[in-house]
Amino acid sequence: MTVIVRDFRPPDAEAWTRVRRTSVPYLVSTPEQVTHDLAHAHPDRHYRLLVAERDGEIIGTAQAGIAHEGKEPGQGFCTPHVLPGHTGHGAGSLLLSTAEEHLAQAGATVVHAWVLDRPESLEFARGRGYRPGRSAHFQHLDLAGGALPPLQEVPAGAELRPGSDFADDPRPLFDADAQVTLDEPTDIPTEPADYEDWLATVWRHPTFDAALTTVALVDGRVAAFSAAGTDGDRTYSSNMTGTLRAFRGRGLAKLAKNDSLHRARAAGYTDAYTANDTGNGPMLAINKWFGYTVCATEVRHARTLG
Ligand SMILES: CC(C)(COP(=O)(O)OP(=O)(O)OC[C@H]1O[C@@H](n2cnc3c(N)ncnc32)[C@H](O)[C@@H]1OP(=O)(O)O)[C@@H](O)C(=O)NCCC(=O)NCCS
Repeated sequence: MTVIVRDFRPPDAEAWTRVRRTSVPYLVSTPEQVTHDLAHAHPDRHYRLLVAERDGEIIGTAQAGIAHEGKEPGQGFCTPHVLPGHTGHGAGSLLLSTAEEHLAQAGATVVHAWVLDRPESLEFARGRGYRPGRSAHFQHLDLAGGALPPLQEVPAGAELRPGSDFADDPRPLFDADAQVTLDEPTDIPTEPADYEDWLATVWRHPTFDAALTTVALVDGRVAAFSAAGTDGDRTYSSNMTGTLRAFRGRGLAKLAKNDSLHRARAAGYTDAYTANDTGNGPMLAINKWFGYTVCATEVRHARTLG
């Protein structure tokens, strides 16, 4: 039984999505998303999608690229996944070594990998020279069976608007996203700086749901938002919830996210997911208030190349 690794091709999109949905069910994955991500990747990202085939069947995937918006240069990333039942045949190693070679050629000096907090995954990373760093919790909320907190009263001076109201000029949402992203705890500090890139990879992304996104305005200015991602079926994911610094601690993140979750449930979404760095105290407290429970933990790992 031979394992090979090759570049993703558009006809692989359905098989790619199957692997991703099985390996990381708490992330929204769709065939449209993977082809969009590849087609619209910024050239400085050196984005490459790899698949592992075993006897002609796609049993593994990996995304590799350079965090081109990172504050430090040379930060590569790679996320290999192999389907349960197909591990132990060298697919993960081959995906990782192919990605590392590509990243080294693209100028990476460090490769970051997101490793599930399970003994076999941690051992895989350790054995290939990766050292552990920060961790993050994936959390799940049962929208179909669970109860959401009731909708709160909107404070005086504030108003809630769907993200789709910004369709003619989404720039204020880009500015807000760029500012709050700076404050998110992470291994790769990032500053989205390129509006055109943001339009292509965030605003026009096939899983971004502008209608279910909620924006909180205070005196007409964007103060907080909760950005929704959906698979068009059952799964809803919080892509980013953020409050601008001047407006924090007033309940605006809860207000925006609660409004978005209520509207997602009304639209038929049954499973809500979110992911937070384990050092993000405020966001974890907010998600606990909603009733989210931890469904998986990943540990960021890094390896210095060369
Ligand atoms: C996280 C963030 C969205 C919170 O926005 P906010 O508008 O201040 O949030 P709220 O006022 O609605 O709620 C904050 C809650 O966190 C709690 N909190 C604040 N600091 C905390 C800390 N260090 N540890 C634990 N809880 C904390 C508050 O007590 C409050 O809960 P309570 O209402 O039960 O008292 C904001 O800090 C932010 O934009 N951070 C940067 C972007 C980010 O990390 N987003 C999440 C990415 S997944």
